[in-house]
Amino acid sequence: MTSNAHYQALKAKIENKTAVVGIMGLGYVGLPLLTAFHDAGCPVIGYDIDPEKIVLIKKGQNYLPHLGDDLLKGRMQSKTKFDVTSDLSRLGEADAILVCVPTPLGTHMEPDLSYIITTAEAIGKTLRPGQLIVLESSTYPGTTRDDMLPAMLKTSTKKLKSGEDFFVAFSPEREDPGRKSHNTKTIPKLVGGLDEPSTDLACALYKHGIETVVRTSSAEVAETAKLLENIFRCVNIAMVNELKVVLDAMNINVWEVIEAASTKPFGFMPFYPGPGLGGHCIPIDPFYLTWKAKEVGKTARFIELAGEVNTSMPHYVVHKVAENLNNQGKAVKGSKVLVLGLAYKPDIADTRESPSFELLELLHTMGADAQYSDPYLARTTKVRKYDLKLESVALTPENIAKFDCVLVSTNHSSFDYGMIAKHAKLVVDTRNAMKKYAGEMGKRLARA
Ligand SMILES: NC(=O)c1ccc[n+]([C@@H]2O[C@H](COP(=O)([O-])OP(=O)(O)OC[C@H]3O[C@@H](n4cnc5c(N)ncnc54)[C@H](O)[C@@H]3O)[C@@H](O)[C@H]2O)c1
Repeated sequence: MTSNAHYQALKAKIENKTAVVGIMGLGYVGLPLLTAFHDAGCPVIGYDIDPEKIVLIKKGQNYLPHLGDDLLKGRMQSKTKFDVTSDLSRLGEADAILVCVPTPLGTHMEPDLSYIITTAEAIGKTLRPGQLIVLESSTYPGTTRDDMLPAMLKTSTKKLKSGEDFFVAFSPEREDPGRKSHNTKTIPKLVGGLDEPSTDLACALYKHGIETVVRTSSAEVAETAKLLENIFRCVNIAMVNELKVVLDAMNINVWEVIEAASTKPFGFMPFYPGPGLGGHCIPIDPFYLTWKAKEVGKTARFIELAGEVNTSMPHYVVHKVAENLNNQGKAVKGSKVLVLGLAYKPDIADTRESPSFELLELLHTMGADAQYSDPYLARTTKVRKYDLKLESVALTPENIAKFDCVLVSTNHSSFDYGMIAKHAKLVVDTRNAMKKYAGEMGKRLARA
């Protein structure tokens, strides 16, 4: 592809698996990626600014339960290099650095690239010829070229040229924590470099840890493809959330409608309503594009409307709780409400952007004694917007009977829905989790 010596040397190292793969940010995305490359026989170094994570990994302890207790056992002693550190001056030891740091939104829904910029500046300080840097964090098109690259060059003391001395690409992460059907190794990986040599090297590298690698013509295409995937979900979820409100007023069960429509073998894909969006991606990433669109004088109206509908959902759900308590002659103020599920989706402990926090906060503001039950989270910890200081209520018949309303926010499969149906005075269900018990519950069950 190119006769450039740095390119050739790195390509050879990647091909014979002597290139050291550095992963920057060992969270939900970075940690499984680190082990995927290590499993493939590549020497790896994980970098994280959180020293507690480094201590745990060195002890072989995995802090992300959905990845399994054994994920890190014996790694430090393995024959293939496995090292982790919070010392970023060691970034020069890695031949390839894959950046998996957070990309949140600021208080005014603006992209917060501070983690990417800080990371890029740290990489720049030890940048050397023959390194490949790949950004994996979800972000707007142009970040790799216009934000990350200049930040690296700013702190670099050497006169290095991207595409010749060192190489830069973008490859979006498509991790879905808790999903059983796919994992880091089996989810196809999009790869787009700032130039052909960078794309080439990044594709060669990912082929070790990942089964299917898909080349895009540029970093910008790969950046935008990731946003499209999340916008697609965000907009479709908003559509069924809106439909839920409309159909409820017509006394039609939206879940039955979706089930019926899903029998069409083509041209339809089911999306399901809920109490609001959760997780690190879908509530956040679409707004990276709305922000960027304004820079070119355009408005991404579908995304903005979807955002509006989805963010109104917790208010709608609390309104349904109030309406159904009222039907039983009770006010929200002074009522005891048990929110089931604090995590944002079933069977994991991830609470990021979980609508359950907003439901609890709204109910507290209205004077309810709102508590939660979640087998994965014994107590609430401080999250971006909330610090609720609550402890999980044990799900026993006696406890259920003490509450005026049980609000199903996250349908963990370990909840005993039969027992809940038997003992609850009222259940407001946002997930269709109580479907089987609708007959026996009668007016004690409401959808929201
Ligand atoms: N969680 C998911 O399911 C998921 C899925 C697809 C894409 N993503 C994207 O991947 C990116 C990472 O997300 P995540 O869920 O892994 O985040 P995370 O919060 O779980 O992990 C990020 C890690 O980066 C570390 N970190 C922060 N700044 C650092 C720095 N300067 N140097 C080194 N380490 C640093 C943090 O300590 C943390 O351990 C985000 O852009 C996110 O949108 C996440």
